[in-house]
Amino acid sequence: MLSRSTITKAQSLAKLGSAASSAMATATLRAALLHTLRPHQSSAATAAAIPANETEAVGSAPSAAATAAQALAPLDTFLRRHNGPRDSDVDAMLQALGFKSLDDMISATVPDSIRLAEPLNIADSEYAEKELLAKLKAIAQKNKIYRSFIGTGYTDVVVPPVILRNVLENPGWYTQYTPYQPEISQGRLESLLNFQTVVSDLTGLPAANASLLDEGTAAGEALVVCLSSSRKKNRNVFFADENCHPQTLAVLRTRAEGFNAEIVVGDYRTFDFASLGDRLAGALVSYPDTYGNIGEHKALADQVHAQGGQLVVVADLMSLAVLQPPAEFGADIAIGNTQRFGVPLGYGGPHAAFFATTTDNQRRIPGRIIGVSRDAQGNRAYRLALQTREQHIRREKASSNICTAQALLANMAAMYAVYHGPEGIKNIANRIHRFTQSLAGAVSAAGHTVENSSYFDTLRIRVADSLTAADIHARAAERQINLRRIDAQTVGVTLDEAITREELYQLVEVFGGDVSAVDSIVASTAATAAESSAIPAGLARQGPILTHPIFNRYHSETEMLRYITQLQNKDLSLANAMIPLGSCTMKLNATTELIPITWPEFNQIHPFAPREQTEGYAHMIRDLESDLAAITGMDATTVQPNSGAQGEYAGLRAIRAYQASQGQGQRNVCLVPESAHGTNPASAVMAGLKVVIVKCDSKGNLDLVDLEAKAQKHADVLSAVMITYPSTFGVFEEGVLRAIEIVHENGGQVYMDGANMNAQVGLTSPGHMGADVCHLNNHKTLAIPHGGGGPGVGPICVKKHLAPFLPGHPELVNADGTPQSTVGPVSAAPYGSAGVLPVTWSYVKLLGGRGMTQVSKTAILNANYMANRLRDHYSILYANQNGMCAHEFILDMRPFGKTAGIQVIDIAKRLQDYGFHPPTMSWPVPNTIMIEPTESESKEELDKFCDALISIREEIREIEEGKQSREDNILVNAPHTISKVSAEEWSHPYSRQRAAYPLPYLRERKFWPSVARVDDAFGDRNLMCSCPPIDTYQ
Ligand SMILES: Cc1ncc(COP(=O)(O)O)c(C=O)c1O
Repeated sequence: MLSRSTITKAQSLAKLGSAASSAMATATLRAALLHTLRPHQSSAATAAAIPANETEAVGSAPSAAATAAQALAPLDTFLRRHNGPRDSDVDAMLQALGFKSLDDMISATVPDSIRLAEPLNIADSEYAEKELLAKLKAIAQKNKIYRSFIGTGYTDVVVPPVILRNVLENPGWYTQYTPYQPEISQGRLESLLNFQTVVSDLTGLPAANASLLDEGTAAGEALVVCLSSSRKKNRNVFFADENCHPQTLAVLRTRAEGFNAEIVVGDYRTFDFASLGDRLAGALVSYPDTYGNIGEHKALADQVHAQGGQLVVVADLMSLAVLQPPAEFGADIAIGNTQRFGVPLGYGGPHAAFFATTTDNQRRIPGRIIGVSRDAQGNRAYRLALQTREQHIRREKASSNICTAQALLANMAAMYAVYHGPEGIKNIANRIHRFTQSLAGAVSAAGHTVENSSYFDTLRIRVADSLTAADIHARAAERQINLRRIDAQTVGVTLDEAITREELYQLVEVFGGDVSAVDSIVASTAATAAESSAIPAGLARQGPILTHPIFNRYHSETEMLRYITQLQNKDLSLANAMIPLGSCTMKLNATTELIPITWPEFNQIHPFAPREQTEGYAHMIRDLESDLAAITGMDATTVQPNSGAQGEYAGLRAIRAYQASQGQGQRNVCLVPESAHGTNPASAVMAGLKVVIVKCDSKGNLDLVDLEAKAQKHADVLSAVMITYPSTFGVFEEGVLRAIEIVHENGGQVYMDGANMNAQVGLTSPGHMGADVCHLNNHKTLAIPHGGGGPGVGPICVKKHLAPFLPGHPELVNADGTPQSTVGPVSAAPYGSAGVLPVTWSYVKLLGGRGMTQVSKTAILNANYMANRLRDHYSILYANQNGMCAHEFILDMRPFGKTAGIQVIDIAKRLQDYGFHPPTMSWPVPNTIMIEPTESESKEELDKFCDALISIREEIREIEEGKQSREDNILVNAPHTISKVSAEEWSHPYSRQRAAYPLPYLRERKFWPSVARVDDAFGDRNLMCSCPPIDTYQ
């Protein structure tokens, strides 16, 4: 969609008379008019549909229709809102770089050999912002919002509005980055620590992490912890109880393949564990199980421990409010989903999973852990523990590839616990149980059999012989209710926090019960779960929950709002300043793109709802799959992976399954460049591949000689190469085509890591270059917000031959019930984090093919403009033969160690004083920073950031020249907090003014780090991963 000003510009270009500009202007104007005339068709389709005389007339003398289209075109077009630089800025920036046009600049940056010959095959932007929302609403309304009592790990919730609006819908929370810079991240660090404390408190296990992707992958992570904690190689059998959720078992089976683990599924009550001898690594059991039963697991724990294994319990956080914590009956690990702590269904995600364990396993915990440390002034400060950036992913020695997780949703769950507090949570749990007891009573009275003798919220009901399950489902459907389909005679019902009295009556009606008797049944039910006969004696929780003060303070909405805001104000997000993190693409997450994710038509849909209720999702996902395939130059897409790293894993599994289908199952070597992101080798290991590292040359390019030698050496067993493009050094490598050729010549497949796709869209593509599979990071390239470390969406796109090997899911079946794919799922939900897919759909539709191409060009322009401004002050590590970087670049900070005793971390912390989030630090090259500005930043913001870095260079120079001390200077003491700068005492040889306000813009826009530099070593030595003791609050 083009703005009126674009149309006017196009007309004036046409008047200039040059053939080229006139043709361009005609095309531009035509596109604008076509949009207005046929707003809901792609431009290609529309062009074909419009009579030739109508389109031809446009160039010379506009017809009345064309004039009207121009005059009446909407003004809320998006491209000019998404891209930061104004037209005049673009001209100035190009001039500074010595180019006449953006296209000249792109020609000097992207090798001709890989450029697309044709424009991106995606319709040009179809909608202005308001139109987009109307169009998407119409699609959303094709979803039918039934009340789902399907359970299976997902329930409806009441999202506290104060959390909905002030966390989920608040850019101050959703545009934050992963808290690697603790001084400007104390808010979300505190909130994630609250999350860990909730998990630890309710499971009874002392160590918890700050979220995982979903319950299925959490089960996979638990499997690997059990395998890796045993030193014996043959201890590789993992038992899983048959009554875990089917999707959890399916993801577990997938995960086991790469680790050569054997999954044995059985009934834990009758299974002969002794028969496994010393091969048992662990056992997984669900508490309560998928059909609602609450098992006694103490004997199981003893048996598993006696065999030398560990007990993993899949727990439901809400039921743990009233049930004995797993640690008390001997669980070593507890995992599960926290969705029902105030996170919408979202058709399966995103939701935060949890992982809690014993102190013995503490150092094997996957994902991120928040720890308590202290700052340079001795104050308490939170930080990511035991790791900096992705160093917790131990590359080729890895057992987990978790990077992006589900931080935003973990924050929501934590806030839910803070808001409701122990009494509130218990009341909710007791209320759910009371409804379930009442339903059980009414259903039994109606002649059906509740098969589970114990339950918290789920009933497995055998329908009376006079009826079938189908009859019950039909009656439920009449009332727009979904129940779980178990078999021809059995249905499942799971109740939740959102249940109402009227809905209970409806459910009773569905089962043909006597509604008039319900009230008296309710009156006779136990007041609390602890008193209920449905909770096995001895399994009711005895002790209090959530005793920490943080869960006992903020129970009025005013207090809660202020707590959320107080934490938010400690964190630098995109709402404050640019976050130029190389390889992370912190671009605009536009409001219009985000609005639909909280529409009930999208976020109240159960992931296993019948297909006829999810046609809106199907429509949107189909659109996305084809648009993403077009962007990547591939043939087929799956949106199932919940992060980039999960995409890598899914892609490599597709390659392996394809190779096995060709009788090439022996191919088990994956070539990974030494510059690759840590998730690449980690994903390869998880897919059962052996990693062989390929060198990079001194210019950061893949060393083709080394690549060829290794590809040839392993030709018989070569499975794949993983290439990031543009490289993690920020350059469009010329040699990429040859690299792809080499791997193909030696029988391997090419995996392209899509983290840097923001530099490619519309200019080239993985498929065009010859790759076989790639992932996209929708949370980078395609506008899904980072949320402080998730949600993530990592679709993979593949060439035709790999399409049959995309991940399946127990719910993805053909009409005849056969599975759609023979390859197992990588996520618990069929479409992963479907609830945030509207963001990417909207991004693509708002910008269209031409807009997204312009985005890539602008991202490259912004990076080169900054590199050019900084060139005289810092050395830039890598560039192509024309001196151009791609969409990011690396500044070398290594010399300053010698010249001034300054390390990269000092520069990063000093940038915080200048109001900026530091760029990516020490990756891929130690002691460097990698800057990726993205297209969304204005020239003014880029200039400010450059001014800050240039000013810091002058501060370093003062140390080099002896004007500042090497020991006590403005960099090593950074960041400077408000308390430090305003303290009575000031002993430093520079002024408070310089410390806090080194440049004039800071007078208007100052962001204060809330703690001084955080002591990493202290935090790692004294790992504490739940809220500080109660006495520190007194
Ligand atoms: C080059 C590269 N590949 C893969 C990943 C992993 O993506 P995710 O964090 O979504 O798992 C990242 C994340 O920063 C990355 O930079």
